[in-house]
Amino acid sequence: MTAPKIFSEFTEGLNEINATEGSRAFSDSRSVRMKDTTSSVYDMAAAGSAKGDIWNWGMYDPVVAKEIAELIPGFGEFDTDGISEQLYYTALKAVPIEFGDYAGRSVLEVGCGMGEGLNFLSRIAGGGEFTGLDLSPRAIERATATLSRGRTLRYVQGDAEELPFGDGEVDVVINIESSHTYPDLARFLSEVSRVLKPGGYFSHIDVFTAKRLEVLRSLKGELPGLDWVHEQDLSPQVKAGIRRRLAPGSHFHRKLAEKRVPALARPIVKHSSAVIFGGVFAGHQDTAYIKLLRKLGVLPSGRHLEVESYRHHVAVKRA
Ligand SMILES: C[S@@+](CC[C@H](N)C(=O)[O-])C[C@H]1O[C@@H](n2cnc3c(N)ncnc32)[C@H](O)[C@@H]1O
Repeated sequence: MTAPKIFSEFTEGLNEINATEGSRAFSDSRSVRMKDTTSSVYDMAAAGSAKGDIWNWGMYDPVVAKEIAELIPGFGEFDTDGISEQLYYTALKAVPIEFGDYAGRSVLEVGCGMGEGLNFLSRIAGGGEFTGLDLSPRAIERATATLSRGRTLRYVQGDAEELPFGDGEVDVVINIESSHTYPDLARFLSEVSRVLKPGGYFSHIDVFTAKRLEVLRSLKGELPGLDWVHEQDLSPQVKAGIRRRLAPGSHFHRKLAEKRVPALARPIVKHSSAVIFGGVFAGHQDTAYIKLLRKLGVLPSGRHLEVESYRHHVAVKRA
């Protein structure tokens, strides 16, 4: 299958998953196919990403930025805009364990991408044992080759709906901007509940369509094992992060300019990058040139996910 075909199959699958009434979007065979497509998309992303790239829309909150800069002096001066890291910081900060108290505790990130976000957390909460899991073999190979550090930080390939860990093994599970691609949300949440130790925490951050939010809300009451203790709509902070990232002259645009893209393709790359990094959610509009390319069929007509909000939920595993 060609790359554009894989991307349009992925987009269609995402739209279906996030428009489904119940927790389970597909039959078993369609679900396997969707996961193959997802894995191919992120394998391609891993091949085209630079060291240090983190694959989320990010957020901007000046208080969070200040706290990170205090913990890691000089943070933000060396090849990062710090926007994606803020989501990671927010996910772990919501867990009521002091950053200095992670020695001997295990943190699992499900859907860790190329592992850079988890690497960042391993520096903030030193002494912990951090494991990242992702469906994309290429992302995991890359994370292992470039970031892993023995028991402190390791990466494994696997499926969020079938976690390769024993019951009650993990102190904290985090999940950032990944679960909207899982065909069966209930199955993922049951797996999280199974691998958590009693009293362990689950910190979950993701985009939500109105339907998917309804599904999560009804699952909260149905699934045994997890008590939901916190919910925050992060949409304003996420939109602020996206706008900062996509502003003219930003770190993001400087990095894009370093890539050798032919002049005619530059507006397309700029547009696609804006869309991938949440531009539509933050109000980005198609330019006349992009509209024309769509009309001519050079760009796919593309149905974007109708994101209603970007949210943070925290649950604790019942003792
Ligand atoms: C938008 S990226 C976010 C990555 C990372 N959490 C971050 O914030 O940069 C979504 C990630 O979820 C992973 N993913 C999608 N479906 C998955 C599944 N069923 N099991 C594990 N990982 C999955 C993808 O391969 C991808 O790396």
